[in-house]
Amino acid sequence: MENTEYMNRLAPVADNMPNTEPDRQRAYMALLKKYFSELSIKLGRPLTMCTVTFGCQMNARDSEKLSGILKEIGFISTESENADFVIYNTCTVRENANNKVYGHLGVLGNYKKKNPNMMIALCGCMMQEPQVVEKLKESYRFIDIIFGTHNLYKLAELIYNRIETENMVVEVLKDSTEIVEELPVDRKYPFKSGVNIMFGCNNFCSYCIVPYVRGREKSRTPEDIICEIEKLAADGVKEVMLLGQNVNSYGKNLANPVSFAELLKMVEKVEGIERIRFMTSHPKDLSEELIEVMAHSKKICRHFHLPLQSGSDKLLKVMNRHYTKERYLELVDKLKSAMPDISLTTDIIVGFPGETEEDFEETLDVVRKAGFDSAYTFIYSKRTGTPAAVMDNQVDEVVVKNRFDRLLAVVNEISHKLSFRFEGKDMEVLVEGPDDHDDRLLTGRMGNNMLVHFPGDRSLIGQIVNVHLDESKGFYYMGTMI
Ligand code: 5AD
Ligand code: SF4
Repeated sequence: MENTEYMNRLAPVADNMPNTEPDRQRAYMALLKKYFSELSIKLGRPLTMCTVTFGCQMNARDSEKLSGILKEIGFISTESENADFVIYNTCTVRENANNKVYGHLGVLGNYKKKNPNMMIALCGCMMQEPQVVEKLKESYRFIDIIFGTHNLYKLAELIYNRIETENMVVEVLKDSTEIVEELPVDRKYPFKSGVNIMFGCNNFCSYCIVPYVRGREKSRTPEDIICEIEKLAADGVKEVMLLGQNVNSYGKNLANPVSFAELLKMVEKVEGIERIRFMTSHPKDLSEELIEVMAHSKKICRHFHLPLQSGSDKLLKVMNRHYTKERYLELVDKLKSAMPDISLTTDIIVGFPGETEEDFEETLDVVRKAGFDSAYTFIYSKRTGTPAAVMDNQVDEVVVKNRFDRLLAVVNEISHKLSFRFEGKDMEVLVEGPDDHDDRLLTGRMGNNMLVHFPGDRSLIGQIVNVHLDESKGFYYMGTMI
């Protein structure tokens, strides 16, 4: 490893560190804080950090935790990747997520040549794949720290090890049963926050890498979750998004089992929290109890993300999804009868091995019947290690692209039509920030997850206000505050 300003400045202390978490990490943070403050004085400038997040809401939340640790030890955040500390929090759910990371890394290497103080860390789902780590170790020697999804709370200790050993530090665990809490978090928004309620996934959908990289399902206790949400509320948070790969199976493996619906009722009681969202649901575990609790709730947002993946019973079976097209549509009916104003979104994969034109037509049929307000559509991506990757009937690329375009056209046509159903209505809106394109406007999010732009003062950011939806633009609205 190159010699940098960091080297040989920390005495080995690991033996004197607390053995329990989070005290151990706090001790490392205190050491590093002193260390980086001296370095900052020596350089005559503040030290900067940049956390780059790929992938899902879980990763976004993890990144807030990583930034929290870096802030605590003295870094200030910047948007530029030309920073003193850069972390890539990676995703590996589809191949192009991996390619994006390799693409960016070359740029980082060049920054590092000009800034010998720079540290580069990679973490997240992609690091859980041994072949990725091997490639990085071989071809990207300038990386300082590689860690995975099970030990991100250890960032301070890993930075310490990097400084002390002068070697690339690689620590990727296969799985863990420990959930470490109570470390600093640097929230992106003061008024809304994700809250992890569970980690990992037990479903093993045959195309999906997540159970391999995020490990087995582990639920946090309701006490810990509520305690975190109460603290967030005291800190000004109005909206929480409960996060898990399959929130509908929350709590089943706890010593004292609690259902997701019961958890929602507890969250509903937290004063100061005005909106509750959750992500992601699995149709196979969606209970009547949940629909009931949602329908009677004043705080749970009228938005349901229910991944369909495919409309073909044959493919759903091979995908290991445990529901049929009919069952899916029945759930949609139940949600809509209980909450007529609900907005429904989904995930769909095109080109899963063995998908025929008839299978694809079944998917289009569900899209037409269910009426999704929006859909995330994905081209099937072969993930090494999953059962689908070795299926011998992979679909031709040109056929898949054609189906993908056709699907997108139907999805867009339907969501465009549906968006007009809210035109002329008055909606409660959480003001999220100034409009990206027009300074005079604010952007707010409705309970149904749709956005509206309207004239207003920036002092309203973070408040819930009432907005009249003057005009639907198909995928968003223009409105006026009332
Ligand atoms: N190929 C394409 N899409 C995938 N997803 C998960 N794995 C794959 C894959 N191998 C999609 C699913 C899931 C979403 C988060 O990503 O639709 O719901
Ligand atoms: Fe992947 Fe299926 Fe688990 Fe979702 S439920 S993370 S698609 S294995």
